[in-house]
Amino acid sequence: MSDILLVQNIDSYYGKSHILFGASFSVKKGETFCLMGRNGAGKTTTFKNIVMLVPPKSGEVIFNGKKITGMKPYHTARLGLGLVPEDRRIFGLLSVKDNLELGTSTGRLGHWNLELIYSYFPALEEYQERMAGTLSGGEQQMLTIARTLMGNPEILLLDEPTEGLSPVMIKVLKDLVLKLKELNTTILLSEQNIKFSMAVSDRVAIIDRGHMVYEADVDTFRKDDEIKMKYLSV
Ligand SMILES: Nc1ncnc2c1ncn2[C@@H]1O[C@H](COP(=O)(O)OP(=O)(O)O)[C@@H](O)[C@H]1O
Ligand SMILES: [Mg+2]
Repeated sequence: MSDILLVQNIDSYYGKSHILFGASFSVKKGETFCLMGRNGAGKTTTFKNIVMLVPPKSGEVIFNGKKITGMKPYHTARLGLGLVPEDRRIFGLLSVKDNLELGTSTGRLGHWNLELIYSYFPALEEYQERMAGTLSGGEQQMLTIARTLMGNPEILLLDEPTEGLSPVMIKVLKDLVLKLKELNTTILLSEQNIKFSMAVSDRVAIIDRGHMVYEADVDTFRKDDEIKMKYLSV
């Protein structure tokens, strides 16, 4: 399998605060790669650096063999990087359907369209005319993922999708991610939920206070209780 995304030696700052210290990893086409780490470890910052919402201070991001470092976020979206933001960014006063249509602003044609989205997300079809702000937290998470899929990304960046969801919604989300994997979707996931990560990921990396400290295939990670205790227990 070939690398679709290369993150090379990224350093990142917010103002004078140094947040990422030489972060490096790569994602292969068709795999689900999970970045794990405690609250504040730097997962969201890493995702924002990859899609250039926050440009890295140094280092490179390479997508499909092309250097994307320093591009504008709309450009990375057009190239096929689809971020599902942790804070969801739903337009609460717009209808569910209008939120979904906004996802097509990447201008990318492909597998996903409204009809197919509704077959994967039946609740969104049922609520399509409702104001998105009236949906439950779990439904809004689904809407955020569906909206990003409407842009036909080549890689889906799912930033802590289980955060704040009920066990029932986490199960729905797990089934969705497993279905996306069956479609050979390339996924970069960030999580704190170890069980969820082990259920859907192929490889796992850990970031701790802005440093990448671990990388392994999921079966190795599954057995590595010491690592889980050290870097992921609360
Ligand atoms: N906009 C911001 N301005 C300043 N500091 C920030 C900002 N966003 C995040 N941080 C800080 O950067 C660090 C990493 O945060 P973040 O990437 O959100 O971690 P995670 O997603 O792993 O919880 C934390 O110390 C956090 O307080
Ligand atoms: Mg985060």
